[in-house]
Amino acid sequence: MQRISLTNIAHQHIKEILKPSDVAIDATLGNGHDAVFLMHLVGPSGAVFGFDIQEAAIAATQANSAGITGLTLIHASHALMAEKIPVQHHGHIKAIMFNLGYLPGGDKSIITQTDTTLCALNTAIALLATDGILTVMAYPGHAGGDLETEQIQLWCEQLKPTHFSYQLLHSTLSSAIAPRLFIVRKTH
Ligand SMILES: C[S@@+](CC[C@H](N)C(=O)[O-])C[C@H]1O[C@@H](n2cnc3c(N)ncnc32)[C@H](O)[C@@H]1O
Repeated sequence: MQRISLTNIAHQHIKEILKPSDVAIDATLGNGHDAVFLMHLVGPSGAVFGFDIQEAAIAATQANSAGITGLTLIHASHALMAEKIPVQHHGHIKAIMFNLGYLPGGDKSIITQTDTTLCALNTAIALLATDGILTVMAYPGHAGGDLETEQIQLWCEQLKPTHFSYQLLHSTLSSAIAPRLFIVRKTH
C-alpha cells in the first residue's frame, strides 16, 4: 500500500480551495516546495507571499522557483505578517501554510518558536478569507517541537466553533513523536 505523507494530504486539502487568481501565504518558506505548489495553483494571475527568517531559505526558494512570477519572498518572521501583507489582501487570503521546525539540509538549531508561531497563527486566521484554509505541519519529535505542537493543539481547540472548524491528522506511524497536521477552515 502506498503511504501518503501528511504534506501530500495538506496539499490535497488546499487544492480543493485554492484556485487561479487567488492569494496565498507560505509562512515558512524553507526550500520553497510549498510556495511553488501554491504558485502552481494560483497561476500567474494570483499571488503568493512567503516568509522565512533565514537568508539560506530565501536563496533556496529563489533557486527552486526560477521562472515563476507572482511569488513575493519576505525575509522576516511570520509574526510580522499583518504589516508585511498588503492591506488590500487582508481578509481575502484563501490558503496559508505553516511547515514548522527547521530548514531541511540547513541549520537545525534555527527552529520555529512557540510564541512567534502562536502570534503568527492569530494573525493568519484574521487575514484568512471566509472559506479559506490554514494548514500547520508540526513536529513533536525535536526539542521544543513537542511543546509547540501541544500549544498549537490547545490554540485550535479554543477557536470559536461558530467561525472555524479544525481537524488533527496523525501520521500513519502513530506515536508521540510522529508529525501532526492541523487543518483549520474559516467557516464564517
Ligand atoms: C520545515 S521548514 C519549511 C519547509 C518548506 N515549507 C518547504 O516546502 O520546503 C521550516 C522553516 O521555517 C523557518 N522559520 C523559523 N522561524 C520562522 C519565523 N519566525 N518566521 C518565518 N519562518 C521561520 C525556518 O527558517 C525554516 O526554513
